[in-house]
Amino acid sequence: MTTSTQLGGQDLDRIVYSAATIARRVEEMGREISECYDEGDDLLVLGLLKGSFIFLADLVRSIDLPLQVDFMVASSYGSGTESSGDVRLVYDGEPSLEGRAVIIVEDIVESGNTMDRLVPILAERNPKSLEICALLHKRLGGVVKEPRWVGFDAPEEFLVGYGLDFNENYRHLPYIASL
Ligand code: PRP
Repeated sequence: MTTSTQLGGQDLDRIVYSAATIARRVEEMGREISECYDEGDDLLVLGLLKGSFIFLADLVRSIDLPLQVDFMVASSYGSGTESSGDVRLVYDGEPSLEGRAVIIVEDIVESGNTMDRLVPILAERNPKSLEICALLHKRLGGVVKEPRWVGFDAPEEFLVGYGLDFNENYRHLPYIASL
């Protein structure tokens, strides 16, 4: 479908992943993650704000293990739809990663710049393991560390909703749509 439609009062192109499709996949991902760790692994689920806030909230409720949650803010895009290539760590609460099983939760991997920048910084803090869980992956190539868990291979379109924004709008939509 290529015609522009009014979705939830917003001028969006088409729904790419419905709320039900996302819910099913996120629950599966939670189960997959639960099978990869043990109760004693001291799991830390580390969300990258802002984009991951809804995904992380749903994901952790599907993980059947003791865990803690923390957040970081890394910003790579200013306004507009193109990556600036410049990744800034805007907020780092410096949670202890020493000896812990850390899962970085990301809404989308596009150029890979954000993860390429963040993974070495976090690896220096001596976690027992460091994995990435991304809801969407555009598979544009050149990512230093591939996510261990990916929800969907995303189309090469500008996506909004379920945490993803355009100029800070659309994050609240329960589905993912192309703009
Ligand atoms: C977006 C998205 C990822 C990153 C992916 O974040 O949430 O973190 O870009 O792009 P990359 O793989 O090309 O680095 P953004 O900087 O827009 O901030 P946000 O999470 O606050 O939306």
